[in-house]
Amino acid sequence: MLEFDAQNVKAEIVGEENGLNLEEEFNNYNDTIAKIISDLNSRKDKPGQWLQWMNLGYSEETVWLVKEYAAMTQGMFENVLVLGLGGSALGGMAVCEALLKPYWNMLPAEKRNNYPRIFFLDNVDPDEINGLLDLLDLKKTLVNVITKSGSTAETMSQFMILKDRLESELGDNYVRHIVATTDKNVGILRQISNEEGYKTFVIPDDVGGRFSVFSAVGLLPLALAGIDIEDLVQGVKDMDLALKNTDIHHNIAAQNALIHYLMDTKKGKNIVVMMPYSSRLKYVSDWFVQLWAESLGKEYDNSGNKVNIGPTPLKALGATDQHSQIQLYNEGPNNKIINFIRVKEFDTTLEIPKIFEFTGVGYLGGKTVNSLINAEADATKVALVDYKRPNVTISIDKVNAYNMGQLLYMLEVQTAIIGELYNINTFNQPGVEQAKNYTYALMGRAGYEESAAMLKEKMS
Ligand code: PA5
Repeated sequence: MLEFDAQNVKAEIVGEENGLNLEEEFNNYNDTIAKIISDLNSRKDKPGQWLQWMNLGYSEETVWLVKEYAAMTQGMFENVLVLGLGGSALGGMAVCEALLKPYWNMLPAEKRNNYPRIFFLDNVDPDEINGLLDLLDLKKTLVNVITKSGSTAETMSQFMILKDRLESELGDNYVRHIVATTDKNVGILRQISNEEGYKTFVIPDDVGGRFSVFSAVGLLPLALAGIDIEDLVQGVKDMDLALKNTDIHHNIAAQNALIHYLMDTKKGKNIVVMMPYSSRLKYVSDWFVQLWAESLGKEYDNSGNKVNIGPTPLKALGATDQHSQIQLYNEGPNNKIINFIRVKEFDTTLEIPKIFEFTGVGYLGGKTVNSLINAEADATKVALVDYKRPNVTISIDKVNAYNMGQLLYMLEVQTAIIGELYNINTFNQPGVEQAKNYTYALMGRAGYEESAAMLKEKMS
């Protein structure tokens, strides 16, 4: 169950200069929003629209295939190592961190119900990779390499290193230690997988990396680690049905999209902070930052005008970052909107012992850490309002698979709607491709010679 509270963006709460006349704006934009929602739903099955992520909640076949493979391999591996960058890694990381027991990889096997430890490698830092290779027994490791294009230099370098090591340790048997998630027909990884005979999963057409968490990209690592992906997908499906409502008054993704759009374009709040009050949700912020940044940071709008727009997303963690960032959010430039994520009920309760009773910290004794973190969240929210800083709150009753499906899918739809309000292509990433192509050129990939010469000149 997910709830959305937008009281603190109202002009009557944070002042005319910083706040919105929400009811009036909802009424003004009701038709525009209704058109956007029907349009997204009617375009979603058309090839080339990159809206197939809106169908992932209904892909029973993928869920079945993923569960079958996870069941077949259960007990065979001590470790799962996921290789991938950006959208190929962040969704899986966010949901694993949320749903697996804290410190999962450090727990003994029986405390993990004999499910494997899970590692995500999403960089090409030689020290990190060497460190991980020192740690993992490759004979007990399953490698899930994920890349839609099949050619991302970072992912494919990681994969080449792992494939080489696996083959020298395991001989021909190495093939059973690799599962590739990639495009169904094209790309170098698809070609290699076919030639070498790897088990593969498909990233469906028209699903971009940052919208792929509910495809095999996210579902496979989650299922391998024992997460109930059916509950997750049920959350997605139920949220999708709720968000088909074209009336903004009953559509929380549309409400938050419009709020952020107006905050940026009318009130100069072009920095968006994602701040969950739950350590288990800390990578949701990383996932959101990528979703928001790659989707909304664009040079041109759909009419070809140079716009250079995009609100800047920032990640924060409550209560930790109260002691790092909140000073800036309260007293620095009033150019931000804060998104809190609250968890009503934690899985466990932790009481602070009644000690040091006659000292200044005695008041904490007998209270729970649960009430402390929620008091911190309330206190931060009220302080922000005192300083006239707009903020919204998304609450879930518990961190579970169903709610994670709801939360991440709601944020995806919100992104698609605000992209339409900005009149931009939410689903391309020319700025990322540019840097990828320059990397290929600098690393000597065939076909990039001209680019390499130009880069060398620029760099000298
Ligand atoms: O969201 C995106 O499209 C990107 O972040 C990609 O996921 C990332 O660049 C990795 O691309 P690929 O999956 O092709 O290796």
